[in-house]
Amino acid sequence: MTDSIRVLVLHGPNLNLLGTREPEIYGSQTLQEINDLLAASAKEEGVELEFFQSNHEGAVVDRVQEAPSWADGILINPAALTHTSVALRDALAATQLPVVEVHLSNVFAREDFRTHSYITPIAVGMVTGFGPTSYLLGLEALIETLQSRK
Ligand code: DQA
Repeated sequence: MTDSIRVLVLHGPNLNLLGTREPEIYGSQTLQEINDLLAASAKEEGVELEFFQSNHEGAVVDRVQEAPSWADGILINPAALTHTSVALRDALAATQLPVVEVHLSNVFAREDFRTHSYITPIAVGMVTGFGPTSYLLGLEALIETLQSRK
C-alpha cells in the first residue's frame, strides 16, 4: 500500500536499558518487547513503523529533522529530554507533523522536575503512567489523529 500511514517511534536516553532499569518504576519489559507490541498493533491497523532510540540529544534531533521525508506522525517517549530539551521541542515543532508524547511512569506522581515537559505544549496529546500500554494508547491516538486529517 503506497498510502498507508507511517509513524516514526522515538525513544530517548536510557530507554535502551528497559528490562533492568529501575523495574519497580519502568517495569520488566525490554525496549525490544515494547517495539514488538507496537509493531503487532500497527500491523493490524495497516500502519508502517520505524523505530529509533538514542542516548544523545543531537542524534534524536537529527532523526526528528529527517522525519518529514518519510513519516506522517511521531510517537515519542523523550525520556529525560522531556524535562530539559528546548532543542528537541524546536525540532519536533519544525517538522509540523503531529506528535504524541508517551511515558511509561506517571510523571506527575514522581519528583517535581518531572512534572514539567517542554514537549507537551507542541504535542497533540500525552499519555503517562500505563507502562507499555502508554505507547499502545499513544499509537492508537496518533493513528486516529492522522486518519481524521486525511
Ligand atoms: C520517562 C519519564 C522520564 O521522567 C524519565 O526521565 C525517563 C522515562 C517514562 O517513560 O516514564 O527516562 O519518560
